[in-house]
Amino acid sequence: MVFAATPPPLTHRARPAIVPAELAEPLRSKTDAMKISFAKPAALKGHAAVVFAGPGGKLFSHGVKLDADSGGAITRAIKAASFEGKKNQVLELLGLPQIGATRLLVAGIGKAGDIDDKAAEEVGGALIAKLQTSGETAVNIVIDDIAGLKLKGSDFAARLAYGMKLRSYRFDRYRTKAEEGKKPTLGKVVLMVDETKKAEAAFARLDAVANGVFFARDLVSEPGNVIYPASYAKEIKKLEKQGLKIQVLDEKAMKKLGMGALLGVAQGSAHQAKLVIMEWRGAKNAKAKPIAFVGKGLTFDSGGISLKPGEGMQDMKFDMAGSAAVVGVMQALAARQAKVNAVGVVALVENMPSDKAQRPGDVVKSMSGQTIEVINTDAEGRLVLADALWYTQSRFKPQCIIDLATLTGAMIIALGHEYAGVFSNDDTLAQQLIAAGEAEGDLTWRMPIGKMYEKDIESDIADMKNTGAGRTAGSIAGAMFLKRYVNDLPWAHIDIAGTAWIKKDKPTVPKGATGYGVRLLDRLVADYYEEK
Ligand code: BES
Ligand code: MN
Ligand code: ZN
Repeated sequence: MVFAATPPPLTHRARPAIVPAELAEPLRSKTDAMKISFAKPAALKGHAAVVFAGPGGKLFSHGVKLDADSGGAITRAIKAASFEGKKNQVLELLGLPQIGATRLLVAGIGKAGDIDDKAAEEVGGALIAKLQTSGETAVNIVIDDIAGLKLKGSDFAARLAYGMKLRSYRFDRYRTKAEEGKKPTLGKVVLMVDETKKAEAAFARLDAVANGVFFARDLVSEPGNVIYPASYAKEIKKLEKQGLKIQVLDEKAMKKLGMGALLGVAQGSAHQAKLVIMEWRGAKNAKAKPIAFVGKGLTFDSGGISLKPGEGMQDMKFDMAGSAAVVGVMQALAARQAKVNAVGVVALVENMPSDKAQRPGDVVKSMSGQTIEVINTDAEGRLVLADALWYTQSRFKPQCIIDLATLTGAMIIALGHEYAGVFSNDDTLAQQLIAAGEAEGDLTWRMPIGKMYEKDIESDIADMKNTGAGRTAGSIAGAMFLKRYVNDLPWAHIDIAGTAWIKKDKPTVPKGATGYGVRLLDRLVADYYEEK
């Protein structure tokens, strides 16, 4: 018997995909909807204004001066509201004609000496939450005089701006009517700081990363009828303008490479799968081994024949968040001209049930040559990543390889929405990811892998199966599976099922798509892989 563990001819795809009208427009939200600039401290003219306060609501010199101008109105309000100047506390004052501002916000920062980069970003986030839809169109933020600050004034200003931008993100493309009071009004932020040039330079670098985060959030927020493998690939292709080399493999090319695991998942969908390869060569030696990022890009995961329950299925448009983080960080590295060689590979696939779909029990052959028994068609992420990982390690021989994936619901059970799980065969790489995550607020927690778990993915008829041992250690089973496709390179798998999407605002992340992973990977590169 001939064992042809590759999908049958894909004749049912002849019908062209329905292309929604929205696609005629660019998919990307405006990253510069709110203009941020830096200027020397000057008199406040109109608009909202912000000054800062420390413990006990103690104002710094600029606030003290405004307080005097207003005949003590600010200190009276601080008392009346029991405002303690704690970090992220904001006191709002209206109707103070003497100070030249339409409204004054007093932003608590707690002990100035405790303020680090992340804390400054959070203060910025708290301010935007108050101002974005307030009716104000512009705000002046006065930071010339904060005593006891360990950060340089210029860095404080830049981080504040970064937090403001990150929190200001909105995904409004599909609203045709904006509810009054929910419409963003704030279009201009001016940070008044002595060292304007230094603040601008510091912010430019952060802004590049923020734009990568925004791109990732946009991609994840888009519904499955707009972002499908072909439209997604087209969107990525636009990054060529920024100096990235982009290559798109179609199913024919993938079939030639023997990617039976990836194609098995794709075969039920009317949308053809794509594998997109992004290269950034920023190191002095363009041939130096790159760092490699691989992303799960399920543009929609219905579960396939092992269909998911209807409730909450709409959330599975986000199942490409791993790929979005990879795309976002590649854009950021290019935008900030990072001195590193990096490759990003994203596997773009839709998992659908149909008469052509893969069945539970099917056996597929991966590019690596290893065979897989597909017990559950809903454990599709590892199938797709198996071929993407193998392809990446064999073509690029990277110094290390990091994959990101919304791989298992079990990850959410284990760590909730705060930490992503990191699984690694390399202690150094795992430590680097933990440290980079801590620094950026994209938190990672190390999870175990090891020989003891091999038995969980043993199959009776193939080299492995695509599920674990019942309901136990499901996330580890996924990692154990992926480990077999990295050929012993230093590798880390980050399961972002819980962190890619949140239902409640965080200080610098509005609810919805988080863009998790962009900051993490950018920081990893900056701290450990970039030429100084
Ligand atoms: N994309 C899902 C994982 C997921 C589920 C993320 C819920 C976020 C919320 C993945 O493809 C999946 O369906 N995994 C299965 C694996 C199982 C069948 C072994 C899961 O977690 O249930
Ligand atoms: Mn699934
Ligand atoms: Zn999935």
